[in-house]
Amino acid sequence: MSEGGERRWRLATRAVRAGQRRTPEGEHAEPIFLTSSFVFGSAEEAAARFAGERPGNIYSRFTNPTVRAFEARLAALEGGEACVATASGMAAILATCMALLRSGDHVVCSRAVFGSTVVLLETWLARFGVETTFVPLTDYGAWEAAITPRTRMLFLETPSNPLTEVADIGRLAGLAHDHGALLVVDNVFATPVLQRPLELGADIVIHSATKYLDGQGRCVGGAVVGDAERVGREVFGFLRTAGPAMSPFNAWVFLKGLETLPVRMRAHCENALAVARWLEGRAGVTRVLYPGLPSHPQHALAARQQSGFGGIVTFEVEGGREAAWRFVDATELVSVTANLGDVRTTLTHPASTTHGRLSPEARAEAGITEGLLRVAVGLEDVADIIADLERGLAAARGG
Ligand SMILES: Cc1ncc(COP(=O)(O)O)c(C=O)c1O
Repeated sequence: MSEGGERRWRLATRAVRAGQRRTPEGEHAEPIFLTSSFVFGSAEEAAARFAGERPGNIYSRFTNPTVRAFEARLAALEGGEACVATASGMAAILATCMALLRSGDHVVCSRAVFGSTVVLLETWLARFGVETTFVPLTDYGAWEAAITPRTRMLFLETPSNPLTEVADIGRLAGLAHDHGALLVVDNVFATPVLQRPLELGADIVIHSATKYLDGQGRCVGGAVVGDAERVGREVFGFLRTAGPAMSPFNAWVFLKGLETLPVRMRAHCENALAVARWLEGRAGVTRVLYPGLPSHPQHALAARQQSGFGGIVTFEVEGGREAAWRFVDATELVSVTANLGDVRTTLTHPASTTHGRLSPEARAEAGITEGLLRVAVGLEDVADIIADLERGLAAARGG
């Protein structure tokens, strides 16, 4: 099937079949090309491939057939012309910034992004003359006010981590384009099954494949999806030179993950909604944040922009850090780990882990309070998940 033909398939079919190119062996599942380099038939062929005059693999830092298959499948799911796989989600963000920004450029970034994204922009890219202004995700006036003639990129996550705030991608894409800037959307929480930012006007989509794309917490990886020029040429060019590429083994695991992504995301949404409804109104819980609840500030926007509300529920317990830690320590079933998007439910205290490197002021501004807990609802029986959270809540209250 040609790439164009694959694009006509519905989403679940693309998830299972897009990007597969069988070898003459006729294998049914995709093989893993676990090889660092590729051989050439002649000196002339080697020279032609290196010169870019003839297509073909050279070295797995540049291209690898298993990685290519993953890239093609994810590009088909997101509706992008090109996808470049990376060693991690952070490598995807780094590669995008290194390829598309230069010294003197300015970025406007949502305050509610993953902690390492803040540190990358604020600490490391600042050393190379890239300046970043952080704004509240849903304050569109603040986004506009922060834009300067040097602004080249607007960066956001929606739904955000860990507060599940939802921003209007189309509106921010319009704003970015009016000022000659790009809109980059980290689509980790929603995945292309629930939200496709490129269709809404964004220019680039970022993934931490480590999360839902894998789905079973096995490998670290990432991806950048977008147009052929910026992603297929520029981001690929940076990656090929600098090297934070995805390993073929990891690409194969992620390919298998993509096959079940539509089914898993629907199940995650169902369990998360049940957990959010259970948490709402319970004694000792001061706030429940889940875009699927009518009480969520951007519930209507999420219903319009996404085809499901996702698997992440964030809530605040009364009693600050002590109560939150008692909650965490009393659970028996859920995994206390920073990862999310796993079939196993995971529980995180963001203020002391994923967002622990932010200053207390930056955390407060981002709304990451000491009593906040993030549960990435997995695919266990939801009654067992709720029973475990009940144990945690009893301990939080009883301190
Ligand atoms: C929303 C979001 N973006 C990016 C990342 C970074 O991904 P990775 O850990 O694969 O580098 C994470 C990791 O937790 C994340 O939650």
